[in-house]
Amino acid sequence: MATVNPYYANLPGSYLFAEIARRVKDYAASHPDNRLIRLGIGDVTQPLVPAVVSALEKAVREQADAATFMGYGPEQGYAFLRETVAASCYAGLGIGADDIFISDGAKCDIGNFQELFAEDARVAITDPVYPVYADSNVMAGRTGKLGDDGRFQGLVYLPCTAANGFVPDLPKERVDIIYLCYPNNPTGTVLTKAQLSEWVKYARENDSVIFFDAAYEAFITSDDVPHSIYEIEGARDVAVEFRSYSKSAGFTGLRCGFAVVPPGVTGVGPDGARVPLREMWNRRQTTKYNGCPYIVQRAAEAVHTPDGQKQCRAVIDIYLKNAARIREAFLGLGLTVAGGVDAPYVWVALPDGMGSWDFFDALLTRAEIVGTPGAGFGPSGEGYFRLTGFGSPARTEEAVERLGKFTM
Ligand code: MLT
Repeated sequence: MATVNPYYANLPGSYLFAEIARRVKDYAASHPDNRLIRLGIGDVTQPLVPAVVSALEKAVREQADAATFMGYGPEQGYAFLRETVAASCYAGLGIGADDIFISDGAKCDIGNFQELFAEDARVAITDPVYPVYADSNVMAGRTGKLGDDGRFQGLVYLPCTAANGFVPDLPKERVDIIYLCYPNNPTGTVLTKAQLSEWVKYARENDSVIFFDAAYEAFITSDDVPHSIYEIEGARDVAVEFRSYSKSAGFTGLRCGFAVVPPGVTGVGPDGARVPLREMWNRRQTTKYNGCPYIVQRAAEAVHTPDGQKQCRAVIDIYLKNAARIREAFLGLGLTVAGGVDAPYVWVALPDGMGSWDFFDALLTRAEIVGTPGAGFGPSGEGYFRLTGFGSPARTEEAVERLGKFTM
């Protein structure tokens, strides 16, 4: 008999978006007229832009010819993409191509990166939070069970609510790993340069490592909001950054992202010596990963061309406009709203005492709109609800119309 990883038993029965999909499927099965508008999971609806499609087509043709066919690629990604990323996203920030590790997406990278740390590493997450950060640490045995308070024992929770303007306080105790996601999923809020600097200072003073999830960086419209943590002095010694083409270029199905691991970011090995995380991540990726497909990396490269940038910007603007419309709709209902300005997510404070799963059910059954209950992102998400701007403009307008008629 093979004993299974016992820590999986500490997880909730299903992943948040799988649970939502299950409930929606049940509802749709008994309501086949299909009026549902899905603004729950942050999946994109606009097609790939022409620059990306051309690059894909060209790369596919290369794969069809023995003279240009490519088999296994470098596990870290092809030099053409690593160099492009370093030059386009990190010019002047001291990040080079060797620091970039191309992958099949930020979710995998951020779920896997915790493997580089000891089982007893102290982990801090913001609350509410993208569930992958918490769940991957639960699977690794860094927590106990989910308590009655909705918190995993052993994790340090940093509440982000209207009371603190959705800006987490620094941990009161020392932690080894801090997960930060800005622009934030799910609240859609951002940190200014001064606010993010406080985190870098904390990490430097406490010898902690920040996992900075910048998957929504392309949605930033406000000044004074850093696009990369490396805009902050000293971050190159304490932070790894994760980025994704999913939301910025419509790659949720194609799959491509990257991790940035500068050589100065280290942990401590069993002999007390400093170990660069870049070496460990390289070891991990070369062992467990065979690289993002060549054709996908060529498609990602096209995102950084002038045409690619212009075309992707136009799509991002569509999603931001959707988010603004959703914001207005909720404000019109007299509710307090965060996000939707520098992020595709709109985070709504529900009237006092209204549970977020109750609102999920009400919106599903009375307006046939699918959103995401805040409680699914952690205990401080209770009393909040998330809708995404990733719907099509037409469906979003229809949702706005239905919200206008919705009675709380
Ligand atoms: C979300 O809805 O929070 C995101 O789509 C999840 C993800 O990117 O994996």
